[in-house]
Amino acid sequence: MATTFPAIPTYSGFNAPVRAEVDMFDLEVTEGAIPADLAGTFYRCGPDPQFPPKLGTDIYLNGDGVVTMFRFADGHVDMKSRYVRTEKFEAERSARRALFGAYRNPFTDDPSVAGKSRGTANTNVLWHGGKLFALKEDSPPVQIDPDTLETIGPWTFDGALKSKTATAHPKIDPVTGELFFYGFAAKGETTPDIAFYIADPSGKITREVWLKAPYSSMVHDFAVTRDYVLFPIIGLASSLERLKAGGPHYAWDASLDFYVGIMPRTGGAEDVRWFQGPSRFISHMLNAFNDGTMVYLDTPLASTNMFPFFPNVDGTPHDRSKAVSSLCRLSFDMSGSGTAIGQETVVPIFCEFPIVDPRYAMSEHRYGFMPYVDRSLPPPAGLGGAVGLNFNCLARVEPATGAVTTQIIGGNATSQEPMFIPRSRNGAEGDGYVIAVINRYDEQRSDLLLLDAQHMDAPPVARMRVPIRLRNAFHGIWVSKEDREK
Ligand SMILES: [Fe+2]
Repeated sequence: MATTFPAIPTYSGFNAPVRAEVDMFDLEVTEGAIPADLAGTFYRCGPDPQFPPKLGTDIYLNGDGVVTMFRFADGHVDMKSRYVRTEKFEAERSARRALFGAYRNPFTDDPSVAGKSRGTANTNVLWHGGKLFALKEDSPPVQIDPDTLETIGPWTFDGALKSKTATAHPKIDPVTGELFFYGFAAKGETTPDIAFYIADPSGKITREVWLKAPYSSMVHDFAVTRDYVLFPIIGLASSLERLKAGGPHYAWDASLDFYVGIMPRTGGAEDVRWFQGPSRFISHMLNAFNDGTMVYLDTPLASTNMFPFFPNVDGTPHDRSKAVSSLCRLSFDMSGSGTAIGQETVVPIFCEFPIVDPRYAMSEHRYGFMPYVDRSLPPPAGLGGAVGLNFNCLARVEPATGAVTTQIIGGNATSQEPMFIPRSRNGAEGDGYVIAVINRYDEQRSDLLLLDAQHMDAPPVARMRVPIRLRNAFHGIWVSKEDREK
């Protein structure tokens, strides 16, 4: 049994497990000033393994979930972080060692935890229906207290959630307040079933549709427009036989076509049209919208797998030189019977983790905000972000014109996923702030950076010093004081 973390990049340097829960009051402001009227909380979620991996090694995606919150009020910000007390976390804490094996492979677990939830609650945070949740796509949401971050427990929508899983990338309709989400592998590991749900603003499930994907794969994110729901299927395929043999859950199979299933919001499984094309890799969507029966999806897109921690099924090594994305617009014509996918590069930057102003989601957006890699700049000496990319820039982009406004992170530092903070509930699109955690490799600590979203290339509105190292997280949300009081 391993008692130390292995000396591999996943667990070393800036990504060495922190294994701490922190309360820190009044972060130092080292540049600019926190706007006095900025009131709300930036929540983020990421993995931080409680114990060394049971099998001696594992992938970054399998760490125990830690939620961090930065609460802004009266020109000050306080920070708090807590582990999510999942069933897995509690069982392993009692045993003082890892009992669960490889990422999404229950066949590698200690027999004592058979049947227990493998969810790590490490991927994203959701605020809906007056409740806060930590999310991981292989299990139901876990409710947590929005002020103390104490774990309340798994949430199954009062028992209405029949899927075994729920995505870490749900969407909230800014017009209706409804929650759109789905579970993939919804009938159990490696099943091709997708369960789609809509919940009303109070969190009551009002719609449920079960459909089958063309093959079983990682359906990490999806998209919703005013009239349609889009399910992308990429060649990160799963295999029950491989799992039983102790192998990785997902492997990249370039021979599998890229599909996008499009269903009218009010439709059923029989109404899904599967658009199809040659192998493509997409992971996180910026936004989708429709103009009548023309449907558009803006997303970083690459021609091959961008997740180096998932092997190629044919045994060839990961080719980082080809795993380069740019922001593309995919188009789908729902008027006829065609199934071709249109593809146009709209902003040629090496980007991932894009976000849209949430007030303008599901409709045509003017802006996207995202970190990207400028390969003409000297590469930082860090180990890379959560997906292995050194994001040395943060940008606001305009897909319609291709315009890019950039904040260069500078020095030996990179950015984690940013979040957009609207200045007000009813302001113009893009009027607000961009907030991001910055990895400072020389000092092995973090910064919290606040930028003016309309002036991304200007000096920061505020830079806050985090005197400890915040391991690379995945995703976050902004919950304004107004949102809490709704
Ligand atoms: Fe994600």
